[in-house]
Amino acid sequence: MRVDVIGGGPAGLYFAILTKASRPDAAVEVVERNRADDTFGFGIVLSDETLANLRRADEPSYREIAASFAYWDDIYTHFKGHVLRSSGHGFSGIRRLTLLQILQRRAAALGVTVRFQTEDPGLEAHRGADLVVGADGINSRVRSQLAVHLQPTVETRPNRFVWLGARTTLPGFTYSFQEDRAGIWNLHAYMYAPGECTLVVETTDAAFRKSGLGVEDEAASAAHVAKLFARELNDAPVLTNRSFWRQFPVVRCVRWHHDNVVLLGDAAHTAHWSIGSGTKLALEDAIALHQAVSAHPGDVRAGLAAYGVERRPESERIQHSANTSLFFFENVRRFWEADPVQFNFALMSRAKQVTYENLRRRDPGVIREVDAWWTKHVAGEAGVRLPAGFRAPPPMFAPFRLRGMAVANRVVVSPMCQYSAVDGTPTDWHYVHYGSRAVGGAGLIVTEMTCVARDARITTGCTGMYRAEHRAAWKRIVQFVHVHSDCRIALQLGHAGRKGSTQLGWEEMDRPLPSGNWPILAPSSLPYYEGVSQLPRTMSRKDIARVRDQYVAAVKMGSECEFDMLELHMAHGYLLASFISPVTNRRVDEYGGRLENRLRFPLEVFDACRELWPADKPMSVRLSATDWIPGGITGEDAVEIARAFKAHGCDLVDVSTGQTDPASRPVYGRMYQLTFAEQIRNDVGIATMAVGAITTADQVNTIVASGRADLCALARPHLADPYFTLHAAAEYQAMGYPIEGVSWPKQYWSGRDQLYGLARRERQEAERAAGEARPPKPEIAATG
Ligand SMILES: Cc1cc2nc3c(=O)[nH]c(=O)nc-3n(C[C@H](O)[C@H](O)[C@H](O)COP(=O)(O)OP(=O)(O)OC[C@H]3O[C@@H](n4cnc5c(N)ncnc54)[C@H](O)[C@@H]3O)c2cc1C
Ligand SMILES: Cc1cc2nc3c(=O)[nH]c(=O)nc-3n(C[C@H](O)[C@H](O)[C@H](O)COP(=O)(O)O)c2cc1C
Repeated sequence: MRVDVIGGGPAGLYFAILTKASRPDAAVEVVERNRADDTFGFGIVLSDETLANLRRADEPSYREIAASFAYWDDIYTHFKGHVLRSSGHGFSGIRRLTLLQILQRRAAALGVTVRFQTEDPGLEAHRGADLVVGADGINSRVRSQLAVHLQPTVETRPNRFVWLGARTTLPGFTYSFQEDRAGIWNLHAYMYAPGECTLVVETTDAAFRKSGLGVEDEAASAAHVAKLFARELNDAPVLTNRSFWRQFPVVRCVRWHHDNVVLLGDAAHTAHWSIGSGTKLALEDAIALHQAVSAHPGDVRAGLAAYGVERRPESERIQHSANTSLFFFENVRRFWEADPVQFNFALMSRAKQVTYENLRRRDPGVIREVDAWWTKHVAGEAGVRLPAGFRAPPPMFAPFRLRGMAVANRVVVSPMCQYSAVDGTPTDWHYVHYGSRAVGGAGLIVTEMTCVARDARITTGCTGMYRAEHRAAWKRIVQFVHVHSDCRIALQLGHAGRKGSTQLGWEEMDRPLPSGNWPILAPSSLPYYEGVSQLPRTMSRKDIARVRDQYVAAVKMGSECEFDMLELHMAHGYLLASFISPVTNRRVDEYGGRLENRLRFPLEVFDACRELWPADKPMSVRLSATDWIPGGITGEDAVEIARAFKAHGCDLVDVSTGQTDPASRPVYGRMYQLTFAEQIRNDVGIATMAVGAITTADQVNTIVASGRADLCALARPHLADPYFTLHAAAEYQAMGYPIEGVSWPKQYWSGRDQLYGLARRERQEAERAAGEARPPKPEIAATG
């Protein structure tokens, strides 16, 4: 078997090693354009998890690597004169050159031919090989040559960064954030050998330009960084090594292989360096490729296909985390006014992997600090003085106030259509559904989209607020919530627009009724599904005035029902949303065109409702903060939209996304819409409610304490568990927390007592089991 590897970085060398070690008869050759000892950059970091993978894959190289790294546990964050420390992070730093030389030696010992200072002539030169590995890094020529098949994209991120070095001793991984007249500069610094550090400094492109530094001006850059971070670097001079100010390229490929050629490492995908995973990905790619090829002896192509399928989810997960992490560093300004404790917590939890609970496992002291700061902060906002020795409950159980509405905790039952109304009237189903969620402990319930007119309904099962029967049925529900729970209840009002007259949620959603359709309205006459949906009528001035009046009439009835808050549904492609989005609003009058015009009708409706809605009760709007469609609404637009509603008296933005049009291509994942809630909250200075794949109490705690949203709405989790918040309270009391902000119905107290007792016992058992199973401290921890 002949294996040709193009590129002698970590990916190429490691794959060559694994192949030659398992197939000594194979002819394995690596071509590398650099000299053996030629490397740019200083050190790299590897996590304990990656080291364990390396140990399993090739013990001899692992041993050498493990003997050469500096190991640290602590992270220090310097922010506005404060230094915050957290422990338990377990990272190892190694000189990049040392890593490469270990791999080079191991490759040579196994009989791999490595031809240094050799430029690869191109894929044509590898015709005779059984397998060709394109491990030629971020600017891969193999990738370009096969672009038609692999379909790569390269997205250049806006921030500027530079790799530098310093000879000094740092107590642990060090972050520092300093502001000068140009902007904010972020330092990431770590030791990879005693007294030797890698520094990465980054800033926004605007700040970089303002600073007057040149992209390749190494001496001036080093001097600038040395001065800015003199204290953190113990006044050490800053060293350069091809230290140019770059912009990070996020590389993705639809496919990683074609015929017998496969991409590996940076050539196939990049992960922003702020989660320190580029080398990890490169090495673990090599392990996965070797396993896939070995599992298909004699059929390289089948091996490559298996590699593509098996490796992709993990690689995409890491790339997604890296992208989430880089957003934080691109938007440090959003957190600039935060308290140092909150800033540090937001920094630690930026990539969604480290959460409130995960950080507690690493360093319980940090979470005690977060709890204490948070409780003081919440009490300060409420004007309450805490008694000495007050023990803080977890962040999710903190109260929240909007105008005269006090919400007991941060959990919200997200609006969810039940498709069970009869001619718009809520039924017994709604009474039980909302009643049981109210006694389940959430601070607030938002009703399903309740339609302002018969022809404003999405489906025949939607609730309405346009007949006296509707008012009576809703009033009964609101009364139950107020009498039997501490929960607050908000009315969500909406108009279906072009998504109206469609089937129930569990039928063919968003598709027209088989019969009995009613005429529908929209800002522009565009069907939802081309050739399938009804064509909506373009709204005339008269329609606009009539719909506004329907909202006003519904608000009057809602106020008579004594709802605590009013939410206007301006998301998900329904009528008001479709005025806002340029994808669905093609009008040429003053209600179409630029954003200011597209917002005109939604703001007119908002103003008319606000005028009628009691002044001491809050109003929110639900927005689709992005359409997930090129040319549609973006996060930046959403900031402008939220700013406009804030100026009109809106108290809270409920931040959802998409569903504007079938062309929407959302990027799903844990808490996938949170970044928009964070952006709106911190750029506009308005309270936000995050929603979308928030499923655990841990996530709620992380979101609110890190300052990314004020409330968390959970939809589907509340369908599966109406008592989500009560169950979370049981978990946290078992951890010794005092639980405030949640009350059990007195009828259920004996159930509460039993559940609390069980939770305490389970926790004790889990702690005992964890203590017994804890592995001895790794031997590698002693080195470096
Ligand atoms: C300064 C610096 C510091 C970094 N720090 C970290 C860190 O702390 N943690 C981390 O995980 N990641 C870090 N990274 C990222 C990490 O180095 C890369 O993600 C990783 O090296 C990718 O490995 P690779 O083998 O895929 O590509 P590379 O390491 O880029 O190797 C590709 C090799 O191919 C060679 N090559 C390219 N084209 C040709 C050709 N036509 N002919 C011959 N040879 C060719 C190149 O010379 C290069 O040696 C850092 C990167 C840099 C630049
Ligand atoms: C059955 C169901 C009905 C929904 N109905 C509404 C609705 O009436 N109004 C609304 O704004 N969102 C509605 N949504 C969206 C949810 O409020 C929420 O934004 C979405 O489900 C994401 O949250 P989750 O991941 O917690 O489920 C509905 C969701 C579900 C699952």
